[in-house]
Amino acid sequence: MRKLLFSPILLFLMFFFLYFSTSSAQTPSPAPSGPTNITAVLEKAGQFTTFIKIMKSTQEADQINTQLNNSNQGLTIFAPPDNAFANLKAGTLNSLSDQEKVQLVQFHILPSFISMSQFQTVSNPLRTQAGNSANGEFPLNVTTSGNQVNVTTGVNTATVANTIYTDGQLAVYQVDQVLLPLDLFAAPTAPAPAPSKLDKVIPAKTPATTSDDTPADASDATTTRVSFGIALIAAIFLML
Ligand SMILES: *[C@@H]1O[C@H](CO)[C@@H](O)[C@H](O)[C@H]1NC(C)=O
Ligand SMILES: *[C@@H]1O[C@H](CO)[C@@H](O)[C@H](O)[C@H]1NC(C)=O
Ligand SMILES: *[C@@H]1O[C@H](CO)[C@@H](O)[C@H](O)[C@H]1NC(C)=O
Ligand SMILES: *[C@@H]1O[C@H](CO)[C@@H](O)[C@H](O)[C@H]1NC(C)=O
Repeated sequence: MRKLLFSPILLFLMFFFLYFSTSSAQTPSPAPSGPTNITAVLEKAGQFTTFIKIMKSTQEADQINTQLNNSNQGLTIFAPPDNAFANLKAGTLNSLSDQEKVQLVQFHILPSFISMSQFQTVSNPLRTQAGNSANGEFPLNVTTSGNQVNVTTGVNTATVANTIYTDGQLAVYQVDQVLLPLDLFAAPTAPAPAPSKLDKVIPAKTPATTSDDTPADASDATTTRVSFGIALIAAIFLML
């Protein structure tokens, strides 16, 4: 009699929990690859610790990652390795204000994706994130000869050594020198500078929002419920 009473319930419970645990096992795990992370790209390439450090301290790394996630224009970055920074005149970086450090990093970033072959046809001066070169701010020229690509600032000329990363949206090229913008490093013997355009206010950076709404790990709850089900079935077996 008791068997007849409990069996349908037991069958139902077993079916229910089997179904439940099977379907929860099929839940796909979240994809690990998010938007491109410039810091990770440079870390993987190695030899870019100074550039990474200055990108982080100026919050440009976050800016770049946000732009890569939001823009379809893409970005091109000229990345000087550690030895290029080591070759700078002593105190060069320390002589810059925080705002000038931001401009220095932004000068190494072009607001569109440019492939190696597209350098052959770009028109000078190129626009950088540091300012509108069409207005004479932070001019940067590219010259090519065969496969060789040079980047000229009016202060120095760097050569593109190789491609570190390219995915059609972001291109990162290693350059053999830190690009020194004319606006920051004009030779002291140059004619008296026009009233500085550097005083313009750099727009406040919107901090990259970190999402706190990551769902709590649901598998714990699932495990608890499945264990409870198993315990319940075991209890019913004991009663039979
Ligand atoms: C980007 O990569 C760096 C280094 O791997 C890591 O410390 C940082 O948390 C990553 N940033 C994001 C937004 O994933
Ligand atoms: C990337 O952009 C999407 C859509 O705008 C947004 O939901 C997501 O949080 C962004 N991810 C990061 C890491 O900024
Ligand atoms: C690039 O720069 C190097 C070193 O300054 C120079 O020898 C070479 O001729 C330049 N090439 C081009 C295409 O401007
Ligand atoms: C960059 O190119 C522009 C346009 O061709 C030219 O006027 C300017 O003098 C060049 N500047 C340098 C530093 O080569």
